[in-house]
Amino acid sequence: MMCAMAYTVPELPYPYEALEPHISADTMRFHHDKHHQAYVDKANAALDGTGLEDADPRDVLSRLTEYPPDKRDAVTNNVGGHYNHTLFWESMTPGGATQPARDGKLAGAIRETFGSFAGCKETIKEAALSQFGSGWAWLVSDGYRVLIVTTSNQDCPISDDLEPLLGIDVWEHAYYLDYEHRRPDYIDAWLKVVNWDVVEQRYAAAPVPEVADILQRLVTVCSVERRFGEVTMDEARQHSTELKALAGWGPMAKVGAIARGWSDLAVNMQKRKAATVADLDPGIVEKAAIELWIVPPNRSMV
Ligand SMILES: [Fe+2]
Repeated sequence: MMCAMAYTVPELPYPYEALEPHISADTMRFHHDKHHQAYVDKANAALDGTGLEDADPRDVLSRLTEYPPDKRDAVTNNVGGHYNHTLFWESMTPGGATQPARDGKLAGAIRETFGSFAGCKETIKEAALSQFGSGWAWLVSDGYRVLIVTTSNQDCPISDDLEPLLGIDVWEHAYYLDYEHRRPDYIDAWLKVVNWDVVEQRYAAAPVPEVADILQRLVTVCSVERRFGEVTMDEARQHSTELKALAGWGPMAKVGAIARGWSDLAVNMQKRKAATVADLDPGIVEKAAIELWIVPPNRSMV
């Protein structure tokens, strides 16, 4: 017996034909009524009997490792498929793409990471093209900044501790009827219907990580992977020296700033007699995490 609270496909927030000529009514009908429905049906079947039939998809996706291995793939693919598509429908709007408010928090974060709104859209396109086979390209928040990542199949950034702000579905079912194999044309068309107002609301509501979680993030320091909180002053200093040797050279130009950040961290630790990063004040840990790009683990960052 299926639980009464089982997932259902949400209504589209606009008519099927509302995104034409960029995305046709046929594609929307097929994608929403058939594909999304299939994810919902399989998600309900995968969760049936687990006691989690009505769990918030976000909770399910952030706790995938707690599911028995024989159920995990079905849960990942289908709860992910349901959540990702729900977000996708809400991310598009009839009447042409909106723009983030010029002086808003999102526009500022976009400038910080990509230099400009145009640079952000260009990077989304590159990421969507780079995803080999079925998957998604995402604009996400790690709690401090916006980043672009890709995922395969129906994997969701929530499972990597990243907040999805905007995602483009690059499964062929999303564009084949309209654009055949021409993924670049579909991406250009999709960028013309993005609802940036919704993206802005998601960014405003994106959770900020706890310092305790930041200390648990993995970093590679002096070629060794360890928890950020366990890094010692000597390691921070040595890592800074190693990075400085690379800085300023072509694509490594940004490394100089990061090398200085590690050096500042070592100085802070010395001043405060901190044996490891975990002994520092939370404010200093947070600032260092931003400067040093101590981001959550993820599959493929662009
Ligand atoms: Fe899809």
